[in-house]
Amino acid sequence: MPKTLIEPFRIKSIEPIRMTTRAQREELLAAARLNVFKLRAEDVLIDWLTDSGTGAMSSRQWGAIMEGDESYAGARSFYRLEKVLQELPGRQPFGPTPRGRAAEKVLFSATGKAGDLGPNNCHFDPTRGNLESMGVQAVDCVVAEGLQPATIAPFKGNIDLEKAEALLRQEGARIPFGMLTVTNNTGGGQPVSMANIRACAALLKKYGKPFIMDVCRFSENAMFIKMREPGYENTPIKDIVKEMFSYADGATMSAKKDGMVNIGGFIVLRSDEWLDAVRSGLIMMEGFPTYGGMAGRDLEALAVGLEEGMDEDYLRYRLRTAEYLGEKLDAAGVGFVKPTGGHAVYIDAKTVLPDMPVAHYPAWALCNALYLEGGIRGVEIGSVMFGKRLDDGVETFHSMELVRLAFPRRMYTQSHFDYAAEVIAEVKEKAASIRGVRITKQPKFLRHFTCECEWV
Ligand code: F0G
Repeated sequence: MPKTLIEPFRIKSIEPIRMTTRAQREELLAAARLNVFKLRAEDVLIDWLTDSGTGAMSSRQWGAIMEGDESYAGARSFYRLEKVLQELPGRQPFGPTPRGRAAEKVLFSATGKAGDLGPNNCHFDPTRGNLESMGVQAVDCVVAEGLQPATIAPFKGNIDLEKAEALLRQEGARIPFGMLTVTNNTGGGQPVSMANIRACAALLKKYGKPFIMDVCRFSENAMFIKMREPGYENTPIKDIVKEMFSYADGATMSAKKDGMVNIGGFIVLRSDEWLDAVRSGLIMMEGFPTYGGMAGRDLEALAVGLEEGMDEDYLRYRLRTAEYLGEKLDAAGVGFVKPTGGHAVYIDAKTVLPDMPVAHYPAWALCNALYLEGGIRGVEIGSVMFGKRLDDGVETFHSMELVRLAFPRRMYTQSHFDYAAEVIAEVKEKAASIRGVRITKQPKFLRHFTCECEWV
């Protein structure tokens, strides 16, 4: 058998990308105030800012788009998607939303209030922002190895059950529900094991708290379970997914990830307890519950995408892609969160810029260097994203300084990855010349999206 794992698709429609010169990129980045979020996408060669809504749809999905029923209430497209979803989590009500954070907002406003606590393995930044803006404290309880980039473990996304239990015991009255994010995006796209999902569900049940899963990347998580958790080697992905969903009382999803679509999301709930409040929230914030702010055609594309995202050949190739880049980074002596996650590679900036003080934001600096060197756009997951400037001007910093290179689904080929590996190795060679930054302007919440910087 040949060893090369090929892309399990061929290309039917292409979109040109444009190379720029280093001098042009220097100017473009300066105009963007040293914040890659402010670049125009057409000035980026390889856009690995996010895997969210950026992937390529299949010809089957484009075909399904023409079937979209745009009726305001009771559209055929809603029932088509409902059928696919009900096969996964079992019979339970669901409501589409335009995005994952809309699903969260609707759910959180129906169930939480200021002063509450929200435990999770790790909250993704807008999820945290959603909670914090409501006055809810978001508490991350990921296992210790989940915070150690170099430690190799199969399920670094697991929640620390002891930490979660201590929180439930001490602060139970303030906790409306517990969450688990699969895979753990903030912690390196690391998976959560079935045993941990099961135990987390049992723990929350013991304390009478509903269990909500953030299932953006459930298929990738399921494939990791198949590859790494004893007993699941021969289980079909769909059965693993069904079991994962079976433990949860509800789920929120950004369909822009494993839903394989450019826009969309949903909420599913098992019990009727929150149903009325969620439905009213959905109507007030997004739209009638059979469309929830999504176009009928997008519901159709999602119904197909959810199935395609669970294809094992695709998933094997998908996880291998990240692993392949990881092998090349290893060879170049660049540290990253190990093992590689499902949707992205998270470079440990401290291994490239060991002498740069955190106050100069090494991960942000590395992100800028990747753009300047080779037109690659990643995202900082470090102290700009998770640190804060307190009211007295004092800065707090994050425990890790990572640059996430997140891979849009079915979009980039192996030669793009080879190119990126060369650029990263080159940046590592030139590390001594890389400059840190200082933040000159920032909003109160989610500052990384819009802040402005200057070179130190
Ligand atoms: N939960 C997780 C774990 C996510 O990764 C995201 C989005 C969301 C919720 C929100 O979903 O964007 O549809 O509103 N993550 C993207 C990313 C943006 O780049 O990782 P959304």
